[in-house]
Amino acid sequence: MQKQTWLVVVGVLLTGIIGTSQSREVANETDFEAAMKDVGKNFGAVRSAMEAREREAVASGAENLVSIFEGVEAFFSARELEHGVTVAGQAIQAAADIKSAVDNETFGELVGARDRLGATCRSCHTEYREQVEEGGFRFKSGVL
Ligand code: HEC
Repeated sequence: MQKQTWLVVVGVLLTGIIGTSQSREVANETDFEAAMKDVGKNFGAVRSAMEAREREAVASGAENLVSIFEGVEAFFSARELEHGVTVAGQAIQAAADIKSAVDNETFGELVGARDRLGATCRSCHTEYREQVEEGGFRFKSGVL
């Protein structure tokens, strides 16, 4: 079995033992791009589910965002990029707040948490992201 497969197996076992949800592994730039595409999808899903008042979909999208941003935070942490670590931490917190607002039925807190989450996208992108001429995005040169 390949090393990555083993890591997944061990991760799943540990998750089973510890009983917490597994944060997503973001090891390299390819993983990072895939993670951001998923962030985009999940954040879009959370926002429209909020409009439609579909609480299950809001909660599950927010839960996905927590685990993706945990991987994103680890990616920045491994490269000692302080701003990224801080902002990814704020994104985890905001997504977790969305989930708990649904769980606790404190729906009045949803809009504020969603907007805090949206602010993290802008903050991190301004610092680290640039548009590629042919379309798409990448890390600004010299960051990694
Ligand atoms: C802690 C930093 C950070 C946060 C927070 C963050 N991003 Fe990103 N994002 C990046 C970086 C860096 C890139 C450029 C690298 C890339 O595209 O692979 C990026 C790229 C993207 C892309 C383009 C992916 C591609 O290459 O096609 C999307 C979509 C995206 N982010 C959505 C979001 C949304 C939505 C949020 C907020 C809910 C968010 N991001 C929050 C750092 C962040």
